[in-house]
Amino acid sequence: MPRRILVTGASGMLGTDIVTALSAGNEVTGWSNTQHHPDYRRIDATSRRQVDQFFAENSLDICVHCVANADVQACESDPESAARLNAETTRNVAEACIRHGVKLVYISTEYVFDGAAPDGYTESHTPRPLQVYGRTKRQGEIHASRVPGQLTVRLPVLYGGRVPGRGPTWTESLLHALERDTPVELDDRFERQPTWTRDIAGLLDRAIGRDLEGILHMASQEGMTKYAWGRRIAAAAGLPTSLLRPLRTPPPASGIAKPVRPWLSAARLELLGMRPPAGVSERVGPFLRSIEAGRTDSARR
Ligand SMILES: NC(=O)c1ccc[n+]([C@@H]2O[C@H](COP(=O)([O-])OP(=O)(O)OC[C@H]3O[C@@H](n4cnc5c(N)ncnc54)[C@H](OP(=O)(O)O)[C@@H]3O)[C@@H](O)[C@H]2O)c1
Repeated sequence: MPRRILVTGASGMLGTDIVTALSAGNEVTGWSNTQHHPDYRRIDATSRRQVDQFFAENSLDICVHCVANADVQACESDPESAARLNAETTRNVAEACIRHGVKLVYISTEYVFDGAAPDGYTESHTPRPLQVYGRTKRQGEIHASRVPGQLTVRLPVLYGGRVPGRGPTWTESLLHALERDTPVELDDRFERQPTWTRDIAGLLDRAIGRDLEGILHMASQEGMTKYAWGRRIAAAAGLPTSLLRPLRTPPPASGIAKPVRPWLSAARLELLGMRPPAGVSERVGPFLRSIEAGRTDSARR
């Protein structure tokens, strides 16, 4: 039976792919905030009144909460705004879910960990965030955990398509620089698990279909630094990898404490019989083709 699903942050990078994946077989509605989208309601999720009113007027089975400020630097510069977007919006949505008997799926991050565990983190490890982004997302997890039957999905660094009205994505900027023979310095200290938003959306659809509960890590099990990631992208695009320079010391402006290796284990996912999302080596080709297709589509419009 189709379920009535709300995706908050539907206009964002991950939300866009989640809406697409869930729309096959469900009735999906979405929220945006600053962006106008003909199918979405413009809601300020920091306003408890607006959130309550939406839940009172719309009958829902599930809410996938993607609203956040995922920019680590911006969160550090404005902790109050980060708390409003990452923690308070989750409290507003979680309380509305409790009142209306709606299942909550909360999207969280590997930044709730300090990155010091040599073997990475399972769902039972205790979070210890190092910076404002991680702390406010952890507060969001605590609010979400009060909703009966909730699912909290922790994700690693993501790559996806460009959000209309925003600047180029990291991949697009990198390709652009390399096409112009501009050298690019990329971090070579922090190990990440870059994962395509499209793969997360497909897995999330399956997790929701199985009504999974608790905490679930969804991350590619291929680790790499931004430098190694950039090299994969350049090579797949036929651009010179020699223009990329590994950065092994933090840039002077960046005083934010970041986890060196906040590795999300996929052990629970595998126990559930679900294959972890593919890594960059396997997905870089299809991903670059999807960007190219997007460019061609916009050129035709
Ligand atoms: N990006 C990553 O690498 C990454 C990694 C791990 C986890 N995550 C998590 O994944 C989720 C989605 O991230 P993303 O990268 O897709 O973020 P994003 O592209 O920045 O999208 C953020 C979304 O939140 C909406 N929003 C912002 N302020 C709002 C407000 N006051 N009221 C209602 N909506 C508001 C935005 O709407 P408008 O654009 O219309 O204003 C947008 O739809 C977040 O929970 C993030 O913490 C992201």
